[in-house]
Amino acid sequence: MRRWMGRVGVGVGALLALVLVSLAGVYGFTARRMGRHWDGIPRERIAARTDTASLTRGRHLATAIGKCVDCHGPDLGGRLFIDAGPAIGELYATNLTGGKGGVARAYTDADLERAIRHGVRPDGTPLRFMPAEEFNAMSDDDLEALLGYLRSLPPVDREPGRTRLGPLGRVLYLAGKFPLLAAERIDQRAPHTRTFTPAPTAEYGRYLARIGGCTGCHGEDLAGGPIPGTPPDIPPAQNLTPAGIGSWTEQDFVRALREGKRPDGSAINPFMPWTYTAQMTDDEIRAVWLYLRSVPPRVTASR
Ligand code: HEC
Ligand code: HEC
Repeated sequence: MRRWMGRVGVGVGALLALVLVSLAGVYGFTARRMGRHWDGIPRERIAARTDTASLTRGRHLATAIGKCVDCHGPDLGGRLFIDAGPAIGELYATNLTGGKGGVARAYTDADLERAIRHGVRPDGTPLRFMPAEEFNAMSDDDLEALLGYLRSLPPVDREPGRTRLGPLGRVLYLAGKFPLLAAERIDQRAPHTRTFTPAPTAEYGRYLARIGGCTGCHGEDLAGGPIPGTPPDIPPAQNLTPAGIGSWTEQDFVRALREGKRPDGSAINPFMPWTYTAQMTDDEIRAVWLYLRSVPPRVTASR
């Protein structure tokens, strides 16, 4: 009997050791990837622009299009934006203003460019959960307007807190289920475009669908499916190709983006950020609509 107990003890001990070793491995691997330095990103000639038209454009980009306010807070002073408990983690979005605890004063325009378009801090380490792969497509003109707007914000004195990633969050990240580091998914040397002319065209719609995050949630091919990194109670993103909303009229689409309602009147889950898409201009919504009409119909694959 005692021998048997002893064996169980050894078994439990071995299991505990195994768990500890795996955890150490998980922490080691994630720490290495989060500590990697992204060097050699080409430096761009970017300079914040603060003329009235640029500030208006910058504000529009930070709200209706890029939805920076959704994570960084309505005053862009930073906040806790995901609290998924100790196992997964807590994620804080940075204070972007020039106040105490904010980055606007300490960062150069080039530093901000690298954070927004490349997902990388001034020291070269990757930002966590900052959707830079979408903003990587942002034109130089739009970026300069956005930087001007960030620099014009009333300073907010706030230290949002430190992001902490729990063991399950790290395992999910290593398993490719938690899109933590945009820097790893970006082609860091891809050239940027100086300008995209705002117009109700499919070409401009393609640009907006990218920097506006439609592809981020609805998938690169816009065919929808479960959104990586979301809790189970969030519905999958819908198929936006003609195979999904092909029977919709343009009015149906406008109503979905402005009022969060489907053609049959049912409410779209607020995880679809329609309170922001509601602020897009008529021409912008039209451009995205024309683009969605132009993409090939695709069936939703499980992701
Ligand atoms: C989905 C949420 C989300 C959205 C949307 C978002 N951010 Fe972020 N951003 C974050 C998080 C989280 C961090 C902090 C990353 C970290 O600490 O590792 C961050 C970091 C940053 C940083 C770097 C600060 C630093 O500590 O070096 C800048 C600059 C920034 N964001 C600008 C923007 C701008 C501009 C927009 C809109 C165009 C935007 N963000 C949209 C989540 C978001
Ligand atoms: C943060 C993630 C997210 C972003 C960004 C996002 N969506 Fe969605 N969207 C969703 C989710 C999730 C649903 C499904 C909601 C539901 O089932 O109630 C949805 C639903 C929709 C629907 C309703 C489709 C249907 O068949 O009911 C439309 C239209 C739509 N999105 C268009 C867009 C467009 C256009 C953009 C970019 C401007 C966009 N979405 C950006 C997550 C997102």
